[in-house]
Amino acid sequence: MSTDAQTTQDSSGGVAQAADTLTVTDNRTGKTYEVGITDGTVRAMDFRQMRVSDNDFGLMTYDPAYMNTASCRSAITFIDGDAGILEYRGYPIEQLAEHSTYLEVAYLLVYGELPTPAQLEEWTHLITIHTFVHENVKGFMQGFRHDAHPMGMLLGSVGALSTFYPDANEISDPENRMIQTIRLIAKMPTLAAFAFRHSNGQPYVYPDNDLRYAGNFLNMMYKMTELKYEPDPRLERALDILFILHADHEQNCSTSAVRSVGSSQVDPYSAMAAGISALYGPLHGGANEAVLRMLRRIGSKENIPDFVKGVKAGDERLMGFGHRVYKNYDPRAKIIKQAADDVFEVTGINPLLEIATELERIALEDEYFIERKLYPNVDFYSGLIYEAMGLPVAMFPVMFAIGRTSGWIAQWLEMVQDKEQKIARPRQIYTGLRTRDYVALDQRADAASPAA
Ligand code: CMC
Repeated sequence: MSTDAQTTQDSSGGVAQAADTLTVTDNRTGKTYEVGITDGTVRAMDFRQMRVSDNDFGLMTYDPAYMNTASCRSAITFIDGDAGILEYRGYPIEQLAEHSTYLEVAYLLVYGELPTPAQLEEWTHLITIHTFVHENVKGFMQGFRHDAHPMGMLLGSVGALSTFYPDANEISDPENRMIQTIRLIAKMPTLAAFAFRHSNGQPYVYPDNDLRYAGNFLNMMYKMTELKYEPDPRLERALDILFILHADHEQNCSTSAVRSVGSSQVDPYSAMAAGISALYGPLHGGANEAVLRMLRRIGSKENIPDFVKGVKAGDERLMGFGHRVYKNYDPRAKIIKQAADDVFEVTGINPLLEIATELERIALEDEYFIERKLYPNVDFYSGLIYEAMGLPVAMFPVMFAIGRTSGWIAQWLEMVQDKEQKIARPRQIYTGLRTRDYVALDQRADAASPAA
């Protein structure tokens, strides 16, 4: 509304105080508008009223890559990138990594509160009894080529789960949503391990429900001829911590994909498959692989100064450093560094660790990285741990996907219950030609091929 009043109504119907408004003058028309500011945010729809004529569509906001646009209200994960703070439901990640377990954190993300002992027991029981997949899922996975990428196999098989649970599209039924939530968290490690065994040409190993979540995953990955697989408790704990650290990270690319696809009211398996697709990309779930390749290429500590010189000259990036949100040490990187020591105690030191530690030391003292606030991120050390555990780099994003499943599903649950959400449908600025007459094929002159 065009107004000079002291209070104004935003498009959600909420009334903002005079101090919490933004006054905008549209210099095309000379009109002045006040729009409400709520939670440090203006509503893009409040700009639609700003028009040059009656048939003008109204002003839109343009924000490629959503650099400055909040797409939802969420009570799940808080990040303060300048201070290096990450909290799930208000609990600092450091405390969760030290005292909690992945399944407890999954409960926290999904329900919003830490479970009581009885609730945790029931939740753990429910997840544990759903770890098996239908035998036809196994048959389906066996159809992949021997050299299929495990992330591609995971993505295909999670999508395929929607055909095994056709009732999953009843997303308005809370009980139904919860059973799919349990199935997804329970079955993701099974599908991930099957994908790994398939790549190795090894028989798939069924879940062992006597084991805990991470221990059972190690069993399905590494069990050979022994009657009972006994996971090393130090590896089991380190893996559990890695799953906790990856569990959620608010509106990142894959979570936004889950929310966006889920907003069409499709079943959660299809929405999760979209999340896995997004995570498959090298800019998201693949950076830890790039870190390993970089460390191997550097080869020894003596070559670090030359490498850093190349980075500063803009020849390449120091992978595992820098973050869109964190302008401080990524809190997850600190915790992973500690977990790495426990893993190396079991597996022996990864020779690349020495190069990584020295590289970090040199970079953190260098003006280039200090000025730009570039610190190690979660991927700087995680690849070293995975490699020490015997995982090929192709499995790294799969490991990320197992941990992130609880976050994706918690965000999906929040989205489907959010009355303000509708099907996601961004606008565009059309830059193409308008209203042309069709030209018959034999009358078209040769022209350069149009860009794809
Ligand atoms: N090495 C060297 N210089 C860098 C790096 C780096 N890793 N990251 C940023 N910079 C420089 C960049 O060149 C620019 O310098 P200048 O101002 O002189 O042009 C400045 O720092 C700002 O960089 P930016 O590209 O505008 O920052 P961004 O927020 O768009 O990029 C990033 C964030 C994570 C893509 C980037 O830091 C990067 O490419 N890092 C390496 C890849 C990586 O480790 N990715 C994992 C991210 S954490 C996993 C996850 O949560 O998904």
